[in-house]
Amino acid sequence: MDERLAAKISLFDKPKTAALILALLIAPYAAAYAADKIDGETAFKTACRTCHSVKEGDNRLGPNLHGIVGRKAGAAEGFAYSPAMDGSFSWDEARLDGFIADPEKAIPGNAMKPFAGIDDAATRKAIIDFLKGA
Ligand code: HEC
Repeated sequence: MDERLAAKISLFDKPKTAALILALLIAPYAAAYAADKIDGETAFKTACRTCHSVKEGDNRLGPNLHGIVGRKAGAAEGFAYSPAMDGSFSWDEARLDGFIADPEKAIPGNAMKPFAGIDDAATRKAIIDFLKGA
């Protein structure tokens, strides 16, 4: 081994110190990577787009979600909702969060199947933030 390199490495001859320094160096990148991973649009595409579009009027297996934050439930024109989605409330962030977390618990008997829900709160928030602008 190159002697100068060997000398540098011996500065870190305590493995714990070396590991700590390495962790400190990597931490900002790891955090950025984690934040990147929960990009709302990507998460929406992964979890919702099979059935939903955010384009106005574009109903698929599920109703279009254009402007869904603040929209009345069960109100997408031309979509045949189940009786459970009776339009008795408007979607706000808290309602959406509960519904995406566990649809069956939030609105029993709804037809959003076989979507089981998203456990991760940060992913749900990222999707809702994306929907706010969609
Ligand atoms: C397997 C298809 C499917 C997937 C996947 C799916 N949905 Fe749905 N979604 C539906 C259907 C069908 C309905 C209508 C439910 C009803 O009529 O009871 C619905 C209804 C909704 C509603 C109510 C809309 C309204 O007009 O009141 C929201 C909000 C919603 N979905 C959000 C989402 C989000 C966000 C995701 C992804 C995290 C998602 N859905 C994933 C099929 C799906």
